[in-house]
Amino acid sequence: MTQPTLFVCALCKFPAAESSAGDTPGGQHLIDQLTDCLKAETGQGEIALQPVRCMAACDRACNVALSAPGKLTFIFNDLSPSQSAPDLAEFCRQYAASANGKVPYGLRSPAIKKATAYVLPPLVAGEVEAAIAR
Ligand code: FES
Repeated sequence: MTQPTLFVCALCKFPAAESSAGDTPGGQHLIDQLTDCLKAETGQGEIALQPVRCMAACDRACNVALSAPGKLTFIFNDLSPSQSAPDLAEFCRQYAASANGKVPYGLRSPAIKKATAYVLPPLVAGEVEAAIAR
């Protein structure tokens, strides 16, 4: 089984409707929340939590992507830094348990349905190497 990776922009700001927690950016706050939620939902090490520095959608903060070899890639935006970690962790567990990343729509939480911006097909083995060689 391949380990899914959850990419989270650590630099995303808190939305105006949410109060910030001091100087901590919203994205970093979400990462902190996710660390505990992922451990509780999926166990230690089931999902690789990978902070990134800007995903080029700063006006749609917070931004997150979930991907794994051979599975769909999900891109989420407009996630609440202080409220979305439990929903994301649950979706990560569902995603990890699925064969190809196709978590049935009816099983997704309302927050995940609302935040889903894009769903990309899995890369076919060898496509990445071929694209780089071009
Ligand atoms: S700061 Fe998060 S997408 Fe740019």
